Amino acid sequence: MLRKTYYVTTPIYYVNDVPHIGHAYTTIAADVLARYKRLKGYKVLFLTGTDEHGQKVEKAAAATNVSPIEFADNVMLRFKYAWEKLDISNDDFIRTTEERHKNAVYRLWKESEKKGDIYLGDYEDWYCTADETFLTEKQLVNGNCPDCGRPVEKLKEPSYFFKLSKYGEPLLKHIEANPSFIEPESKRNEIISFLKEGLRDLSISRTTFKWGLQVPDDPGHVIYVWFDALANYLTAAGYPENAEGFWPADLHLIGKDILRFHAIYWPAFLLSAGVELPKKVYAHGWWTVDGNKMSKSKGNVVDPLAMADTYGVDAFRYFLFREMPFGVDGDFSAKAIVGRINSDLANDLGNLLSRTITMVEKYRGGVVPEPAPEKDREFETNIKAIFSGLPASYGAALDKLNFYDALGKVWAAIREMNAYVDKSAPWKEKDDGTLSNILYTLTEGLRIVAVYVYPFMPASARKISEALGADGDIAGKPFDRETAWGAGKRGCKVTKIPSLFPRIQ
Ligand code: ME8
Repeated sequence: MLRKTYYVTTPIYYVNDVPHIGHAYTTIAADVLARYKRLKGYKVLFLTGTDEHGQKVEKAAAATNVSPIEFADNVMLRFKYAWEKLDISNDDFIRTTEERHKNAVYRLWKESEKKGDIYLGDYEDWYCTADETFLTEKQLVNGNCPDCGRPVEKLKEPSYFFKLSKYGEPLLKHIEANPSFIEPESKRNEIISFLKEGLRDLSISRTTFKWGLQVPDDPGHVIYVWFDALANYLTAAGYPENAEGFWPADLHLIGKDILRFHAIYWPAFLLSAGVELPKKVYAHGWWTVDGNKMSKSKGNVVDPLAMADTYGVDAFRYFLFREMPFGVDGDFSAKAIVGRINSDLANDLGNLLSRTITMVEKYRGGVVPEPAPEKDREFETNIKAIFSGLPASYGAALDKLNFYDALGKVWAAIREMNAYVDKSAPWKEKDDGTLSNILYTLTEGLRIVAVYVYPFMPASARKISEALGADGDIAGKPFDRETAWGAGKRGCKVTKIPSLFPRIQ
């Protein structure tokens, strides 16, 4: 039988900037999904990478007196390093300066050209280099870019155009027939209104700088960086072949800033070239910092590596998805992350693990006892019932990219187990069978919690499993079997470990 595939992408990041919390957010989200889907038995392609061409990168390189490729080589390594440090399990890392990518871009261009969708003309209007976006006079706000607020420049140059205007109607039809193509719903509505206003053809080449791919058969033109960049998703799937069967992508994860490129330009290019459309484009919210927009000029950019050093990789990963739902904006502050660590991680999870291990050591010499189901009370039945509903509710939440709810459900179970310890007071328990039952229920519950926690906090999940005497290699095991009550191996020996998430003052 063919294995189910799952293809998830992040944006490819511009190398004019080093990794910040925003990049980390999208990338860790994709990592959570990739890890979860692997547990569910999917053959996964998780792609990230760097966007290395274009005027913005050319300018950034010139400002430091190095060639664009030297500049890109350097910054690209900083992204790779950051993803390694943050435990990102990407299967591929694409650079738009790679040969394999050039082939895919050329093929896409040629297919569109064959269709009659590319023509030569003159572009005369505005351009925002910071966003690499063409703008009309009407779109400017106080003479600046409507999206990033930065100054724009006036262009007047020959340019190839893509017949975007031709694809407004087909795109609207596609979006209406496939309600889950653009999510969340508020973003789909934005795109629908935008499409209803009608589309203008899109300039897809530039002649006034050099750093990029040349237009096939017209080397005086450089292909527009977004035409080039978007094609990365096809390149990694092996376009024009699809030998591994990963295309169409299941999910393009992006920030809300680049929705139009992904929900209008990209599907239009694909329709033109006769390539199937991705199944979903999901635009997540943005992080502000202490209530302010994050920006270099404000000096408040959050460095994910510094966060990992200060709070721990897993605590940082957890915080990002438990602080705000994925589709809306949220605020980052030291106070918020410390609060989450102390309450959810130290108090709830860390504490449950350490008290469980202490009791198994004290009452059963460190060996998890056999359960005595005939002695189950309402307490035990309740915990088992919670765990029997979790695989479906956690899975459904993750399938909807509702990371916040998925974690919320797991933490509800953890809190219930803490309450169970308090209410059933094992230290007073006189009945041997009941005491065994309590200790078994707690260790089995925690073993399963480690599986749910794994996509978000892979290293901590391993530590929890190993402390319980279970196999730490969660990645290698099927989710459905591992989350079933009673699936854990029997007679495990527990080990006391240093506090998983120490409290922060
Ligand atoms: O746009 N909060 O690259 P980029 C959350 N190269 N996410 C944020 C964020 C914030 N404050 N700031 C940025 C590009 N992001 C293009 C993409 S894809 C074919 C080409 C995240 O380096 C978010 O994912 O500017 C956003 O979409 C991405 O960083 C932009 O990264």
